[in-house]
Amino acid sequence: MRILGIETSCDETGVAIYDSKLGIIANQLYSHRKLHENYGGVVPEISSREHIKKIALLINLAFQEAKIKKKEINGVAYTIGPGLIGSLFIGATVGRSLAYSLDIPAIPINHMEAHLLTPMINNTLLKFPFLTLLVSGGHTQLVSAINFGKYSILGNTLDDAIGETIDKIAFSLNLKYPGGKKLEKLAKLGVSGKFNFPRPMIKYSNMNFSFSGLKTYVKNVIQSNFCDINMKADIALAFQDAFVEVLTKKCELALQYTDYNRLVVSGGVSCNLSLKKSLKKMVRKYKADLFFSAPELSTDNGVMIAYAGFLKLNKKIQEKSLKIKVIPKWSLEDLNQ
Ligand code: KG4
Ligand code: ZN
Repeated sequence: MRILGIETSCDETGVAIYDSKLGIIANQLYSHRKLHENYGGVVPEISSREHIKKIALLINLAFQEAKIKKKEINGVAYTIGPGLIGSLFIGATVGRSLAYSLDIPAIPINHMEAHLLTPMINNTLLKFPFLTLLVSGGHTQLVSAINFGKYSILGNTLDDAIGETIDKIAFSLNLKYPGGKKLEKLAKLGVSGKFNFPRPMIKYSNMNFSFSGLKTYVKNVIQSNFCDINMKADIALAFQDAFVEVLTKKCELALQYTDYNRLVVSGGVSCNLSLKKSLKKMVRKYKADLFFSAPELSTDNGVMIAYAGFLKLNKKIQEKSLKIKVIPKWSLEDLNQ
């Protein structure tokens, strides 16, 4: 079975083809992040325009890369939420229409579920149930993945998402959007212990997060100091230490709570090596296994949508209606059957 996947929920246009026997046979990605970098965050209108400009081209390139014809695919999967409404409509319109024109199943996908399932592509040992930490630009969630299509949210951010917080602090340190990778590089030059930032909600016994207080605290430190490059590196390191400790502690609580022995970490922030190292150390105590996606599949891409589409079509889940629908705010728990 071959599934075409289309991702347009934010600032990356991704088109890929997943083959159930061969794996990923095409992966086309156009990132518009450069166009947003001077604004410190995503400008929705710029994203919508870029998706429109590039989507047809990327679809054609994906078929060229896979060396197959359009009629050789068995379904079209496309993100319908959560995400930016204008951007979502582009992928959903193209995806639904292409499926109709080829007379094959259309498979609407929840972007967060796709992030959650992606580590299964390269980890054949990963089986349900497992605990997932979803850490992206727009989400910070701890999810109990009970089975395919059955999720329980154990913890959520009460305010800012961790990726958004990282990007804002990075921007204050004059690193362009999206600043996660750049902040991690800068932190490597920092000296440990020069700053000590708060660890919000770390002593609470629940699994929720809050990052807006940490963001304001760090921003105030940056604004009230004349920061040379060394001080910026020290701040980046202290900030990274703070969010890594909070994320690790909350994962530990969730492991204790669920008694699961598998922890999956997904979304762009999961690329952070300091976070990976800290989680690796923590799970050892619980004899739990830790799973990540391949780094190139951790940030937004078309493969994760094609793969989620493949799993759904296997379970005969598809969209019969011709109505083009998007769900900009869409909780994983709404998927529960
Ligand atoms: O999952 P993703 O590609 O897009 C969303 O669905 O939001 O995540 C993007 C987020 C950005 O906030 C970016 O700065 C962050 O992931 N990120 C990182 C790293 N690489 C990407 N954060 C920390 N360390 C990294 N190495
Ligand atoms: Zn994402």
